[in-house]
Amino acid sequence: MTSAQGLKLVEKDASGVDTKFRADILAGLSQAQKATPARWLYDDAGSQLFEDITQLPEYYPTRAETQILKTRGDSFAEMIGAGRAVVEFGSGSSLKTPLLLSAIAPAAYVPLDISGDFLRAAAQDLAEKFPGLPVHPVEADFMRQVALPDTVADMPKLGFFPGSTIGNMVARTSVDLLRNMRETLGEGAQLLIGMDLIKDTDTLIAAYDDAAGVTAEFNRNLVRRINRELDGNIPLDQLQHEARWNDEHARIEMHLVAQTDIVFVVDGHEFAMAGGDTIHTENSHKFNRRTSSMLLLAGGWETQARWLDDQERFSLILAEAKPNRSAP
Ligand code: AVJ
Repeated sequence: MTSAQGLKLVEKDASGVDTKFRADILAGLSQAQKATPARWLYDDAGSQLFEDITQLPEYYPTRAETQILKTRGDSFAEMIGAGRAVVEFGSGSSLKTPLLLSAIAPAAYVPLDISGDFLRAAAQDLAEKFPGLPVHPVEADFMRQVALPDTVADMPKLGFFPGSTIGNMVARTSVDLLRNMRETLGEGAQLLIGMDLIKDTDTLIAAYDDAAGVTAEFNRNLVRRINRELDGNIPLDQLQHEARWNDEHARIEMHLVAQTDIVFVVDGHEFAMAGGDTIHTENSHKFNRRTSSMLLLAGGWETQARWLDDQERFSLILAEAKPNRSAP
């Protein structure tokens, strides 16, 4: 798989193992607090389980954000206007994008995704829904600066990053991403970004530890993937899903908690956990008005507007890449 820039996006070794996956997992399991990057939760099974999560009664973010997109079209039209090239970071949410596109009459749609297959399917789907809208998919790692197609060079841009995916990242990583988005989209661009809100702990915990156990399976699927792809023997029956609120960092954390002392092997390397030790598998940061503005400012974006769902659980924020100028 190669990108437009000719770089390999996914590198595999002779036995077909993603080399980055192996390196990340071995490094993560070697730390005193075991921790693995959240992106590895999303293989085919994991992506399907996340889709299932979005349908759960406890998991409010998808419904809340969709409600904002459905009901605030007039305000988007007013604040964003027609004729922009919409650049979507990650071409996932086939349901949310049409709601935005119908509200603002864009000049082009540019989905960015690291997975070529996923990207082409999403682009095809959008092109069918919006005949006459130029769709220019770009296979790229959107965590880095991306060269957009020449055809959209002179159009004003709107970045679209729904889902509170930014919440997966620690501050340093999200600031890097926001700055790269600014470089990709250029001065004068706007960004429409979803950020989940800080709220009572019970509601948050329930959203990440649902009664049907789907989130637990989503978390445990990572271990299945490690055992399958990296020749591991992690005893899955000894690991229990836990969702924790970390108040200091304002985030939900997903952990896999060892129920007893265990020793296991992954890719020929031995690891041990004492009962109660955990593998930290995901962060989901939550925000309020001030922390979202501050994070955006650190990344070069000034908040222009902010919309909440009717239960004030989730925010969709419009920000602007103001020209650099000296200030006190
Ligand atoms: C896809 C990162 C937005 O953090 O809410 C859902 C992932 N993890 N349940 C989130 C997730 C467990 C989700 N994001």
